Amino acid sequence: MAISTVGVLGCGLMGAGIAQVCAQAGYTTIVREVEEPLLRKGLGRIEKFLADGVTRGKVTPEARDATLGKLSGTTKFEDFARCDLVIEAIIENVDEKRRAYAALDAVVGEAAIFCSNTSSLCITELAAATRRPDRFGGLHFFNPVPLMKLVEVVRGLSTTDETYRAVFAFAQSLGKEPITAPDRPGFIVNRLLVPYLLDAVRAYENGLGTLEDIDKGMTLGCGHPMGPFTLLDFVGLDTTYYIANIMFEEFREPQYAPPPLLKRMVLAGRLGRKSGQGFYKY
Ligand code: 3HC
Repeated sequence: MAISTVGVLGCGLMGAGIAQVCAQAGYTTIVREVEEPLLRKGLGRIEKFLADGVTRGKVTPEARDATLGKLSGTTKFEDFARCDLVIEAIIENVDEKRRAYAALDAVVGEAAIFCSNTSSLCITELAAATRRPDRFGGLHFFNPVPLMKLVEVVRGLSTTDETYRAVFAFAQSLGKEPITAPDRPGFIVNRLLVPYLLDAVRAYENGLGTLEDIDKGMTLGCGHPMGPFTLLDFVGLDTTYYIANIMFEEFREPQYAPPPLLKRMVLAGRLGRKSGQGFYKY
């Protein structure tokens, strides 16, 4: 399966990062948002990341220009007609994804592969919502996408060996380190990370220490790049709450149950960095 043109559905935080790394790897990349202002915001995010990279001496001006030259934006599904692979990175809502796949199925070629960047939804269920369940897989990136080396490649029940191999090789071609994860909520990383983050909230609620001391304990004591509360604010409290609920619903084990404080912070709109306040103020 030769992949030369990649479509990315959604140009939010994850979609923008995914589109950037695809274009950086030399793929003709087209990214879609639902409306022009969102598209401009997402493309602006990519331009800023590349400009920062140049300032830091990590990206050459030539590489920045080559990446931007490979990248284009659209609000139309029809512009995905020539895509060999489409990566969906839209809102985590099965109905929204179903609608997007139906629109894609109508315009994208038979042989093309669809992938979802979902962090928690069932890949087999998403695959079944397309007309190509055999050519569908999970491709889960980590934030910030251009800096994080890992990608989880997820096989649904109907994903063929050929599709799995093509998606795995594609992830490698982006300069990433793929691992194979099962189609179970949280895959590998969130399965371990989310209970840890929930435990940190529970421990804080029980008076284990200050936010700062718990964070310092895990950064300086364990070498983690971010302590649990800095990471929760970075990932988003709503995102963590959402993933935890899906995991709890499926496994019915207490370690996946979101603690009361997390729920209340989400209800109060304290979502982390993106809302200006989470466990810390920004
Ligand atoms: N272009 C190119 N390189 C850049 C860059 C840019 N715009 N911005 C930064 N970099 C480089 C820096 O030069 C530096 O390179 P070096 O290590 O060679 O010196 C490196 O990236 C790190 O940058 P900084 O020094 O500015 O920042 P930090 O050292 O503070 O690292 C971080 C930032 C990579 C975000 C780090 O804090 C980290 O790894 N945090 C944890 C992130 C994490 O856990 N993400 C996963 C969340 S879970 C998830 O996404 C799954 C979802 O389903 C919830």
